[in-house]
Amino acid sequence: MTTVPEDFLRAFHAAHPAVTARAMARGLAADGRSSYEILRDAVTGRRRVLDLGCGDGLLLELLAADPGRELAGIDLSADELALARRRPGVAAADLRVGRAQQLPFADGQFDGCVTHMALMLMDEAERVAAELARVLEPGGTLAAVIGGGPAGGEAYELFLRLARPLFDAAPAARRIPRLGDRRLRTPEGFDEIFGPAGFGPVRWESVRIDLTGPPDLVWRTVGGIYDIGPLDPAVTAGLRARFAAEAVATALPDGRVPCAMTVRVATARRLG
Ligand SMILES: C[S@@+](CC[C@H](N)C(=O)[O-])C[C@H]1O[C@@H](n2cnc3c(N)ncnc32)[C@H](O)[C@@H]1O
Repeated sequence: MTTVPEDFLRAFHAAHPAVTARAMARGLAADGRSSYEILRDAVTGRRRVLDLGCGDGLLLELLAADPGRELAGIDLSADELALARRRPGVAAADLRVGRAQQLPFADGQFDGCVTHMALMLMDEAERVAAELARVLEPGGTLAAVIGGGPAGGEAYELFLRLARPLFDAAPAARRIPRLGDRRLRTPEGFDEIFGPAGFGPVRWESVRIDLTGPPDLVWRTVGGIYDIGPLDPAVTAGLRARFAAEAVATALPDGRVPCAMTVRVATARRLG
């Protein structure tokens, strides 16, 4: 089975493999960790860990630095998984092309599950929650990084101010389908979905990720969002030119452009 949003995601990631890692790996929280490292640390001590929507395997590679761990990853995108397979640290991981709504793993197989910038994109959130409850053993940890938008007063906000009217004006064929379940962007919505599936109350933290950098790098970060994919290339080129012109006015004395986003770090325990 497949859905229109999932077909869109597969096509987008085939055209832009590793897009998320390229945008976010360099981002740093106030404590100096990337959002990937925050998830790595959220499952410290867990020995059998699944990365749900693992993309190009960056987080799996970080998890693999802890020897003796059994790792698995699953993603809709065969193109992203092909990149994950090339990472030496991930060679022993069980990598599957598949859907979070129908996990090809055994009951209680994992004591930890991480998911970076992926959970909020998934259709049929209740089915995903039920599948995670099934494959996590009682007491297992679920740790998710969920996108929270611009942090305010920086390049990501500028980008969205310029881009939103273009997204809204685009003809239907050049718009993205509705992706995922918005309830997963609030702690109340998260508990509404994961509570009945067998998880304890979520621990929810907002973290600012600094993505300040040279203008081109910042464009690559903000311009990597899904909505850009189907836009007319001429519209995207115009947006990029306007963004570059306006972003330069915000540049720091060293030429770098301030950029930041908020992520939500959600952790919940499988009850049992
Ligand atoms: C924004 S990317 C993040 C990739 C990676 N976790 C990272 O942060 O670098 C979201 C990923 O989730 C995957 N994905 C979305 N919905 C999925 C689903 N229902 N089942 C499996 N993977 C899914 C996409 O294919 C994509 O690779």
